[in-house]
Amino acid sequence: MTNILEIAGLGRRFGGLAVINDLDLAVDDREILGIIGPNGAGKTTLFNLVAGVLLPSAGSIRYQGREISRLSTWDRCRLGIGRTYQIPRPFVHMSVFENVLTAAVHGGGQSIAQARTQAETMLELTGLARDHNRPAGALTLLDLKRLELCRALAIGPRLLLLDEIAGGLTDAEVDTLLAIIQRVHAAGTAIVWIEHVIRALRRSCHRIAVLHDGAFIAVGAPEDVLSNAHVKTIYLGE
Ligand SMILES: Nc1ncnc2c1ncn2[C@@H]1O[C@H](COP(=O)(O)OP(=O)(O)OP(=O)(O)O)[C@@H](O)[C@H]1O
Ligand SMILES: [Mg+2]
Repeated sequence: MTNILEIAGLGRRFGGLAVINDLDLAVDDREILGIIGPNGAGKTTLFNLVAGVLLPSAGSIRYQGREISRLSTWDRCRLGIGRTYQIPRPFVHMSVFENVLTAAVHGGGQSIAQARTQAETMLELTGLARDHNRPAGALTLLDLKRLELCRALAIGPRLLLLDEIAGGLTDAEVDTLLAIIQRVHAAGTAIVWIEHVIRALRRSCHRIAVLHDGAFIAVGAPEDVLSNAHVKTIYLGE
């Protein structure tokens, strides 16, 4: 077992508000880790800190043994940290293929020839190959989520951060996405998945961590965490 990600004493404040507070987390390189927690708990802020959109106020983030918490987003991307956004952010006037190609070239640092092959492979994997030439702005919600995932995969991630990729989808659509995510994991990518769709996490995650007020209040096997009385009160509203 090797940790791909090790976070220690991580803190982030916005003015007087401590949104991430002395947070510790280790993610194994073969793991799918789910993160749940109430709205505003700090989940997306945690991803922004790992991906480099935000710098921490305190603490360290080690990726593959290397301190990365002060690196730029593009440096972290080139090291193999891919992420999806809670609200999909494609280039709406570009085609689906161009969106994925751009991610492979600029995010992944691939040559155009490599990037073309990578983009085509990932479009096939995510079920978007038929939409190759469509403008990204014309996609349905499911296809936007696929594109979000496809762009993150195009960089060739070793660590994939998914931010509510299943939100707003039907049960059948969630199943489709789940199958893709499991294939990505089987090919050797560690995954951290923020999600409110508990069913999806229960079926795919090795562990679930519960974030509340910027710190983890429970981490463990899905069944243990989801049946924990404290978690039920805070998150599941029981
Ligand atoms: N750039 C920012 N400036 C000030 N406050 C911020 C900023 N980003 C996030 N926050 C605040 O930090 C808190 C946590 O936000 P965050 O988006 O991380 O929550 P979340 O757990 O992802 O919630 P959700 O489940 O709704 O997506 C919120 O109170 C939010 O208003
Ligand atoms: Mg969020």
